[in-house]
This record gives sequence, structure tokens and C-alpha cells, in this order.
Amino acid sequence: MKPRLIVSRQIPQAVAERIRAEFDCPWPEGRDMTADEAIAALAETRADALMLTSHLKFGADVMARLPASVKIAATCSVGYEHIDVAAAQARGLPVTNTPDVLTDCTADLTFLLILGACRRAHEYEAIMRAGWRRGFGLGEMLGLRASGKRLGILGLGRIGQAVAQRARGFGMQVLYCNPRPLPAEQEQGATYFARFEDMLPHCDILSLHARSGPDTLNIMNAKTFGLLPKGAVFVNAARGNLVDEQALLDALQSGHLFAAGLDVFHDEPNFDLRFAALPNTFLFPHMGSATVETRTAMGMRALDNIAAVLAGKPAIDPLWR
Ligand code: DGY
Repeated sequence: MKPRLIVSRQIPQAVAERIRAEFDCPWPEGRDMTADEAIAALAETRADALMLTSHLKFGADVMARLPASVKIAATCSVGYEHIDVAAAQARGLPVTNTPDVLTDCTADLTFLLILGACRRAHEYEAIMRAGWRRGFGLGEMLGLRASGKRLGILGLGRIGQAVAQRARGFGMQVLYCNPRPLPAEQEQGATYFARFEDMLPHCDILSLHARSGPDTLNIMNAKTFGLLPKGAVFVNAARGNLVDEQALLDALQSGHLFAAGLDVFHDEPNFDLRFAALPNTFLFPHMGSATVETRTAMGMRALDNIAAVLAGKPAIDPLWR
């Protein structure tokens, strides 16, 4: 008998094919389910496992209603703010995430945001799609050079380090702020700042790669934006709640920031439309990991975790031990 699985969101083709082959799953291609729908499907099928994504808020209330048959919940994401880890621990439910496999694509997209924001990608695109037809003088519609700039990174973890690696290819000087300095082989020549506020005045471009948590909530606010040099570029492909969005809008409108490249927002998908009305924003709908290769790898990694736990082995990527 194959193990029974519920998949609470639509997933890439190759992952669905593996599910068909290895699991008993009513919707192997996934279905967008609310928490209530997922609980009902798990109960109805007496499922052994749940594969979810960050759209499903997996709090203590949901965990309390999980049928006893469920032996693992695997989220297809590296972030796990949607999961109440303490409640999972209390219930003894193994919960896993998908680190590593999305590092490169998220770093690629961060660079796209950096370049797009510096080089006015949104405005140039809009001009072309409106038909162009008028040439620009040498001083018109100028962007900022990205190469050779000082790039500040908040959070030089896996993704931050991959961004730094790309930055070195662009001849950038990398600055970073972490709770502790990294060993030289991970630092790769980057300059360490113990205090975020001390790093900000030295950043031509600032990119956030920190975890969301009480210590990083609204870490970018009127004061910290004010510490960036005038004309700096701000990029966020980490989490929306790291930023006080009113302070960011003010900094963009006043011209204190040259531009911002944003993949994440406080309220997703209902992001603040005032960002879309500004010319100096380059905006994506939370797509850091959204490539065929990476989303497939994330789905496979979640299935590897599920298969391991159901075979009585330890989870590969446990959120708690
Ligand atoms: C992640 O994996 O955490 C990405 O942000 C997608 O949700």
C-alpha cells in the first residue's frame, strides 16, 4: 500500500508525477486549499502526510485539528513563519522545510531587482510598451551604475552569501551585518558590521536577507532609511515585515532613495498599490524561487522528507529535533 498524501497547493508537473508513482493522493497535482479544506481532506483520506506551502497558515489551532493519522507536514519553502513550531513540537509532529535548493534562484532574482532598480527597468519597459518614438538626450532618463558599488547585505546566510558571490562578479564591495562575523572562507573579503546602523551610511545599495522575527520586524523604518546615503537603492527579496512600508514610500517619494526593487510585501498578495504608482519601484509578486528547476527541486525535497519520515528514518530538514 502506498502512503497517503494531501498536497495543499498546485505544484510543478515533475513533482506531481513522482507523487502519482509513490503516493496515494487524490489530487497529485495539488489543489489550493484553505486550512479547513486541508483538515477535511486529511481526515477523509486518513492521510499520512501533508505537503503545504506558506499560503496555508499552520498555527496551533490547525495543528490541534489534524487527524492522528498525519505523521509529517512538509512545507515547500525555506521560510516557516506560517508554521507554529512550538505547537508542532508539543504534538510531536515532524515538520520540514526546503533549504538550500532555492538559494541560487533567490540570489539571481535579488540581482535582477538590484539591476532593475538601478537601471530604471520598469520605466524603460513602460516607454517601450507605449511605443517609444522619441529619442532621449544624453542627460535624460539616466539610471545608476550598479557595478563597482558598495552593497550592504543584512543577513549573510545562505542566500546572502550567494548574493555576495554575484556581487563580486560585478566588482562590488560587499558589507554585511550579522549577529556574529563569519569565518573568512564564508566572508570572502566582505566587511563586517556588528551594528546595522553603523553599516547603513556606507551602503550605495542595501539588500535584505534576514529572517523575519521580533528582532527584524520593521528593521527598515524612517530612522534606518534615513541613515542610508541620499540616492541609495533598496532591495528586499526576504520578507515584507522587515520593512515599515510607509517609511519606504516616504523615502521613495522624497527622492531620498533613488529606487527600490521589491519581491515581498507586508500584505501579500494584497500589496499596497501606492508602490505600483511610483516610477522608481521595480516590483515582483514574491517569485524568488519561481523557476521550473527550483520549484521542482523544492517539491522533490519535500517529498524526500516525507518519504524518510514515513519509512521511520529521521527527517532530512527538520524544523525541530
Ligand atoms: C520561501 O521558500 O520561504 C520563499 O519565500 C517562498 O515562500
